[in-house]
Amino acid sequence: MKKTIRDLDIDGKTLIIRCDLNVPIKDGVISDDNRIRESLKTINYALDHNCKIIILSHLGRIKSEEDKKGKSLLPVAIRLEELLGKKVLFVNETRGSVLEEAVSNMNNKDIVLVENTRYEDYPDNKESGCDIELGKYWSSLADVFVNDAFGTSHRKHASNVGIAKNIPSCIGFLVEKELLMLKESLDTPKCPYIVIMGGAKINDKIKVIDKLLKKADYLLVGGGIANTFLTALGYDLKKSIYDEDSIEYCKNVIKKYKDKIVLPVDGYCSSEYKDGIEVDYCKLDNVLDGKMVLDIGKESIELFSNYIKDAKTVFWNGPVGVSEFKNFEYGTKKLCEILDKSNAKVIVGGGDSAAAAIKFGYKNKFDHISTGGGASLELIEGKALPAIDIIEDK
Ligand code: 3PG
Repeated sequence: MKKTIRDLDIDGKTLIIRCDLNVPIKDGVISDDNRIRESLKTINYALDHNCKIIILSHLGRIKSEEDKKGKSLLPVAIRLEELLGKKVLFVNETRGSVLEEAVSNMNNKDIVLVENTRYEDYPDNKESGCDIELGKYWSSLADVFVNDAFGTSHRKHASNVGIAKNIPSCIGFLVEKELLMLKESLDTPKCPYIVIMGGAKINDKIKVIDKLLKKADYLLVGGGIANTFLTALGYDLKKSIYDEDSIEYCKNVIKKYKDKIVLPVDGYCSSEYKDGIEVDYCKLDNVLDGKMVLDIGKESIELFSNYIKDAKTVFWNGPVGVSEFKNFEYGTKKLCEILDKSNAKVIVGGGDSAAAAIKFGYKNKFDHISTGGGASLELIEGKALPAIDIIEDK
């Protein structure tokens, strides 16, 4: 087990806590603050220990100056302040004299939230490239580093690995909980063990399927991943999104694991990727010209439900339809309902599936809802997560 915040002497010290406060924000409004709430335990513990707390996080991905617009962490600072009931000083730069002065003026129990670490990605990719100097600079501001950003732990960035190289480091309560829940439940899952996979990040996820199927009894698929498998099987899904580059991979997976892969048979489609427009029901072997499938249908839900009813463990990563659109939330909502009724241990791998589960009212109904989509997948795939690996064992 890795050193946790309980294992280091932090009393009265200056801490950098790396959180994953990468939350959905539209026009300055946060639509899901779960990641902020999940960060509170570690922050409160540090407050109880009289620490000066510097919080770092990224928000979105920054590849141009334009990308920086709307990606400031200011709305997060305001929400964090509300949730903590305590002043959070927001510093609108990632380094420089304003930040240094703010840190040197801190008293015990003060909190500073630094601007989006990925502002450092343009133009020089310093954060995501794990720039040595940037890691050193941030670590020079504090005595101890706490990685509590589980959702970012599969990234080797300056704000996690870069800092941990330089000062005493540990994991926070959120990372500890995630490791316990995900590893304990999924390293040796009770069988039948079912993986449900969906979502839009097809390329990121599809390559993991091969590994998951070594352990899982069945893989139930929805979203763009299902479209890619169906296309590999020769279906013509018309305008539906799928990943052309993964077709060969899917063909091989189907050859190897044909009896384990369960694909949808029907769905809801429309002519545009948009909410509030006309929706058609279709069988997936008969999608109308000009239409794209954006959700799974009743028969697919029934099919999935037949597998889930006997399951002992379920790992769910990715909505089975475009669940953020009212018109296409049916499949994902039904799936939540079925999972809630089942006797299986249900682990939800972060990202959009976590957002959907919380939005539909299942926050406290499942055994664990992870805060990391990509990170949870890599962890259960058996990969080392660099930002956790770098922390010393107890
Ligand atoms: C996430 O949302 O999965 C994490 O915050 C990591 O974000 P990233 O995929 O942009 O690195």
